[in-house]
Amino acid sequence: MNIRLETKDDYRQVEELAREAFWNLYTPGCDEHYLCHILREHKDFIKDLDFVVELNNTIIASIMYTESFLLSDDNEAVRAVSFGPLCVHPDHQRKGVGTALIEHTKSLVKDMNIPAIIIYGDPHNYSKHGFKNGIDYKVSNMDGEYPLGLLVLEVQQGFFGNKKWKIKQTDAFCLDHEKAIEFDQQFVEKEKKVTYSQELFKMIIRSYLR
Ligand SMILES: CC(C)(COP(=O)(O)OP(=O)(O)OC[C@H]1O[C@@H](n2cnc3c(N)ncnc32)[C@H](O)[C@@H]1OP(=O)(O)O)[C@@H](O)C(=O)NCCC(=O)NCCS
Repeated sequence: MNIRLETKDDYRQVEELAREAFWNLYTPGCDEHYLCHILREHKDFIKDLDFVVELNNTIIASIMYTESFLLSDDNEAVRAVSFGPLCVHPDHQRKGVGTALIEHTKSLVKDMNIPAIIIYGDPHNYSKHGFKNGIDYKVSNMDGEYPLGLLVLEVQQGFFGNKKWKIKQTDAFCLDHEKAIEFDQQFVEKEKKVTYSQELFKMIIRSYLR
């Protein structure tokens, strides 16, 4: 298993991989392969943290990072980063590949002197990597709320201190769903289904901590 930076030649394979990994998981079908496609050209995309995992000349996992900003209640603005999409091909999940990608990039983020990684994700996937809910560090969304899926990894221990923070993520995540559907037509047809994992996801995104 080789962890390396993504190259242009990998783009389509990574998009196919994202489609396989996310298909019917959070919505019928998925938009994540389109997100990979547009993210690489976005101003907030971090090329130095765009990694793939290769096994026997096939890409089996991918992680992409974007710039975020932490804004404190005393008007300090600090650079942070967010990852997503993160995906491992379904045939290779639960073998430590996702963990290896998170660990590899986490140490690079530390070397870049970035104090925190902030994501929206399912806490089940990330608590074991040291992520806590935003409320534990007083990091809210821009509306001052603490969504269940707003997860924070303090890379520089003690960074958050006693201040209150808000996180501003890239607008690249607000993608155009119609364009994603159009983009998906370039791929082999796949059946869209309603699954219980979509119900769980709907519960997570409507849940907030107090
Ligand atoms: C979420 C995701 C990225 C995790 O990647 P992964 O490679 O499956 O994760 P890991 O194998 O590192 O860890 C997952 C589990 O496997 C276990 N594991 C790790 N190595 C293992 C091994 N050698 N043998 C058995 N189990 C192992 C871990 O302990 C962990 O278990 P737990 O969740 O019960 O605590 C991947 O499952 C995925 O792509 N899912 C679909 C897309 C998605 O949801 N992405 C995240 C968006 S929020």
